[in-house]
Amino acid sequence: MGPRAIITIDGPAGAGKSTVAKLLAATLGYLYLDSGALYRLVAWQSARLRLDLADARALSEFLEGLQPEMTTDSQGFHLWVDGLEATPFLREPQVSQQSSRVAILPPVRTWVTGKLRQWAQNGGVVAEGRDLGTVVFPQAECKFYLDAALETRAARRRREWQKDETPLSPEKVAQELADRDRRDANRAAAPMRAAADAVVIDTTDLNPQEVVKQCLVRIGEVLPGAAGPEIKLEMKTG
Ligand code: C5P
Repeated sequence: MGPRAIITIDGPAGAGKSTVAKLLAATLGYLYLDSGALYRLVAWQSARLRLDLADARALSEFLEGLQPEMTTDSQGFHLWVDGLEATPFLREPQVSQQSSRVAILPPVRTWVTGKLRQWAQNGGVVAEGRDLGTVVFPQAECKFYLDAALETRAARRRREWQKDETPLSPEKVAQELADRDRRDANRAAAPMRAAADAVVIDTTDLNPQEVVKQCLVRIGEVLPGAAGPEIKLEMKTG
């Protein structure tokens, strides 16, 4: 096993970050961290408690008391609050929208950043989000920024919801993603953008394996020690 580095994957919703981050983490034997899930957790739990987000003191007390447990593996990233697994509730469309509203609040960003740094303190992490290469882990050894056409991203998001009885129309999903992109890219605190030293990959016409392959080539260049036998094997046969 080579050095226990930090690898960041940023980009908008539906660009393929989660799938690629999970595959990379599994291939490298690294920990997978999903920062979006933490913003979603804040959105979900604050709505359940009917917290007034404009009340700075209430928000600060709420964040202080919010101590989620985390479990993560190649299948996913799970958050638990007071013994209840929150994960199944966090992907609902209203939580998605609300997550990008709480994400503009500096105390919320500080809270999420603190959790991520704590969980990543031993390195060996693949972390995904919007500001991981720019703000949370500016020292990360290897950074990626994934993007794709809006229609492609909306189609991927809809496919994830196929089991839903009343899936949103393609136009509605695209609209929701565009709204979220706008809020994420234009906010004052840690706006979504590629770090200057990130490798930018357009995933519009690529499947996850193709993206992972490109990432592994880059990781092999930057972190030769991390490229163990299993990675070489995957690249030869993949
Ligand atoms: O990645 P995901 O779609 O789960 O993220 C939900 C929301 O959380 C994003 O739309 C964004 O507003 C916020 N977020 C963020 N910074 C991150 C990760 C997510 O602001 N690093």
